[in-house]
Amino acid sequence: MRNQTTTERDLIAERIRAMSLAEKAGQMTLVEFGSITPDEVADASIGSVLSGGGGNPGDGSARAWRANVEAYVAGSLRSRLGIPILYGTDAVHGHSNVKGSTIFPHNIGLGATGDVELVGAVARAAALETVATGARWSFAPCLAVPQDVRWGRTYEGFSQDHDLVAALGAAAVRGWHGDDLAGSGVLACAKHFVGEGAMAWGSAGAQRHPWTDWWDGWGPGWQIDQGDADIDESELRRVHLAPFRAALDAGALSVMAGYGSWRGRRLHAHQYLLTDVLKTELGFGGFVVSDWMAIDQLDEDYAAAVALAINAGVDMVMVPFDHRRFIDSVVTSVDSGVITPTRIDDAVARILGVKAALGLFDDASTAVSVDVVGCSEHRELARAAVAASLVVLTNRDVLPVGAGSVLAAGQALDDIGIACGGWTISWEGAAGNTTAGSTILDGLKRVIPPPRLRYESDGGCPTQRADVGIVSIHELPYVEGGGDRADLSVDAEQLELVRRIRDQVDDLIVVIVSGRPLLIEPIVEIADAVVACWLPGSEADAVADVLTGATPATGRLPIRWPRNGGCSVDQRRTNKNDSWPIGHAVVLADAEHKSEDT
Ligand code: BGC
Ligand code: BGC
Repeated sequence: MRNQTTTERDLIAERIRAMSLAEKAGQMTLVEFGSITPDEVADASIGSVLSGGGGNPGDGSARAWRANVEAYVAGSLRSRLGIPILYGTDAVHGHSNVKGSTIFPHNIGLGATGDVELVGAVARAAALETVATGARWSFAPCLAVPQDVRWGRTYEGFSQDHDLVAALGAAAVRGWHGDDLAGSGVLACAKHFVGEGAMAWGSAGAQRHPWTDWWDGWGPGWQIDQGDADIDESELRRVHLAPFRAALDAGALSVMAGYGSWRGRRLHAHQYLLTDVLKTELGFGGFVVSDWMAIDQLDEDYAAAVALAINAGVDMVMVPFDHRRFIDSVVTSVDSGVITPTRIDDAVARILGVKAALGLFDDASTAVSVDVVGCSEHRELARAAVAASLVVLTNRDVLPVGAGSVLAAGQALDDIGIACGGWTISWEGAAGNTTAGSTILDGLKRVIPPPRLRYESDGGCPTQRADVGIVSIHELPYVEGGGDRADLSVDAEQLELVRRIRDQVDDLIVVIVSGRPLLIEPIVEIADAVVACWLPGSEADAVADVLTGATPATGRLPIRWPRNGGCSVDQRRTNKNDSWPIGHAVVLADAEHKSEDT
């Protein structure tokens, strides 16, 4: 951020002097829109409103979004001091809650592109779609450096290579902010601070707090997510802090604290990390926001939990439901001396400073038309990103696909919801026709028109033969700890389909639609080529262009890929010979196909 001028600092100080303690606490409050009305925003001087995962107003369209955001902004302008709210949302791969928006590949796919410029352009396009709906804050990018791929948030990280995460994360921040933060800029949020990629399997259970009971219906999830990172400080800094340092250098002005803990101490209550390291040592001048209900985990006594977080350095709290309880707790704790007025004024100054940098005090409305949401230019960019993200894991002279008949099979070839994964339209995401876009099959039909191409989701009649088989395997959408999985083996039914098609074709190509490496040894043995497509999003048809060679395959593994079930999926304990390393890809460009690492 450019430095604030003396006048801007004076203006903010003046505003703070004019505020009551309750109004200051209001500015520190982030509420989900379903739990508050625009009038309540005005009455309580609320600072921020969000749409959580799947928090879609009305019919979920861009127009409904804009009307909704504008109603809340208008509410805030009616408050006593007329301070505009900041509206936030998880636009984590495009403005991905909004129906009809452009859904870009999840970060792991962008990591496979290794392309700083592309990632910047993707963030800029996502920013335009976000600002078009009135929202000026995205809870992105996620700067996790996932070590154990059994983690349900692996796909939200760009890579296991922290230098790459740093470079792409910084590019994303610049893209979100754009050249004119106060114009069409969207505030990025570097998350989740810090070390979440190092949380250990089984460490989440120990942290369970009564409020988490609601997730019992989710089965065995939450093994890693919200768990503990038991690593020493030098590793924490070298691997996990580095991307945040790069994001701050790129101008990041909001940082979200992580749900988990470092060596047993909750990150939301970690004064050393939030205040001493982030704010003092790294000079972070923006604000720290807490994660969804995260402070509730700090103490059974809510007011004590609030005080712990704020004293540790949290400036804004994603409550997200009961704003009254939060504001009252802050007021009580300041009155009783548990939180100092200075800490409150510092938090509010940080929040107002960011609002000023976004130009909200001059004009809280948006000049970008909703027509940019899902526009053809952005879909074209998404297509380029998808093509650049594919990683050819193996190839025995069958790629690119030549002439001859093709039998395509597998649910994921023709399913937008599966291609998009979690954080799409709903929090968890869902299989099926959840939003507009194109599938891998649409692309195959375009480049290999019928009758050469035949698609049978379940493989069709076993006696039908073809020269080439293209079969997909996939993970169904999941999110956060609900996606923590002990066993990353390929689903038995999908494996069976691959085996059946093997017998019906001469050459077999398997494409994997997943948020992380799966254990594919039985498939590698029988397939002539295996291609990782990650979670490509709404423009998955671009996969076909790479399979036919119309677009070169340039993606490389952003993460180590275990080769067999015998090797641990905890990457820190994986023997090098048991996995394809970061950077692995089979080059298709010329006749001499070779693996770079062999
Ligand atoms: C919300 C998400 C949120 C999650 C918290 C869901 O109900 O929709 O936005 O991230 O709860 O774990
Ligand atoms: C997630 C965050 C997200 C927030 C709001 C939390 O459950 O951890 O990444 O930004 O919900 O939806």
